[in-house]
Amino acid sequence: MEQTLKSYFPALQNDETVYLDSASSCQVPQRVIDSISKYLSEGHGNAHRGMYPFSEKAESLLFQCREKLAHLLNTRSKNILLTKSTTESINLVANSFRNKIEPGQTLLTTLMEHHANLLPWQRLCEQTGAKLDFIGITEQGYLDLNDLEEKLANNCALFAFSHNSNVLGTTNPVAMLTETAQKFNVPTLIDGAQAIAHQLVDLRELSCDFYALSGHKIYGPTGIGALYVKQPKSLSPLLLGGGIVTRVKPNGYNLTDDITQFEAGTPNMLGIAGLVAALEFFFQQDREAIFLLERQLTEKLIQVIESQNYRVVSDKQSNSLVSFVSPQFHSHDIASVLADQNIAVRAGHHCAQPCLSAIGVKQCVRVSVGMYTTDSDIDRFEQGLKKVSQILV
Ligand code: ALA
Repeated sequence: MEQTLKSYFPALQNDETVYLDSASSCQVPQRVIDSISKYLSEGHGNAHRGMYPFSEKAESLLFQCREKLAHLLNTRSKNILLTKSTTESINLVANSFRNKIEPGQTLLTTLMEHHANLLPWQRLCEQTGAKLDFIGITEQGYLDLNDLEEKLANNCALFAFSHNSNVLGTTNPVAMLTETAQKFNVPTLIDGAQAIAHQLVDLRELSCDFYALSGHKIYGPTGIGALYVKQPKSLSPLLLGGGIVTRVKPNGYNLTDDITQFEAGTPNMLGIAGLVAALEFFFQQDREAIFLLERQLTEKLIQVIESQNYRVVSDKQSNSLVSFVSPQFHSHDIASVLADQNIAVRAGHHCAQPCLSAIGVKQCVRVSVGMYTTDSDIDRFEQGLKKVSQILV
């Protein structure tokens, strides 16, 4: 299966390249490239704005994109709005909460978050007088849920947390977190960026209020993402402009009463064309087999890393990534020696500085897998890591 999957990805056909940074961004299969190219070659039109075939085709792709995202999350397309990324999705929610928060309320998040699920809440606190509160991380690297109920009960306006940590690889107990928050009538936002490509996400089971994701984390192009919203009327648009109104007068406007009110301006049709193809491709695969394979490859990576005396700082149960530190070498030096051998990994603070501080490290190397990762990629990584020790000592 491994070879077959990799063969769909043109950027990985060169045997020299070992790509172990899918948590940052995935490579795309040929059909994503073809879909973008086909869309442009066969005629581009602005969705919603024309009665001619190019425009109707754009409109149809937009519709398909929402439908496929709804299928991915097992929800309804009328609850899916398109954004440019997870980051934009979270900012949209934060912006909407600006008029809902009263001074003295709290916003709850965790110390495990990517900065995209932290900075918008920090700013919201500055703007509203709310106080930011955190779920900490235990010594074992899991969320410290001892005082969860107490924190939710403390006049909490929103609880935002990641599905999977981008540094620790931990899959958080999201169903329990949303259910507990519901007991206290606290809305929940889940940052799904690191989860969507590595496990099934079922929003009929998971009763969150918001779920944010990015297309490029699931084999699609960059610049296209989505937000699931349980009650679209609870939000207000981040951007105002064309395509979102029923009527405009010189001094006022009426917004559409559906999800389109959040998508002002000309949509990212190349992103949409690519994401539709990426999701079709993803659905055609044996996803359970891929998830199992990714988990096995992650275990193999852990063995390789530990056998060379590096310290793994991520969750050893992770389904897709391993983060590690060296007592001797800086993570950037390790990544740089690996890069010289055409092995791509990520190093540094991974846009999650509070998370790294909480686990007591300043920087780490992260290796992450995708559906195209093979055993021989891990073997090459093992050789590459041996060379790191030879070169850096
Ligand atoms: N969020 C991406 C990462 O963790 C960029 O690498």
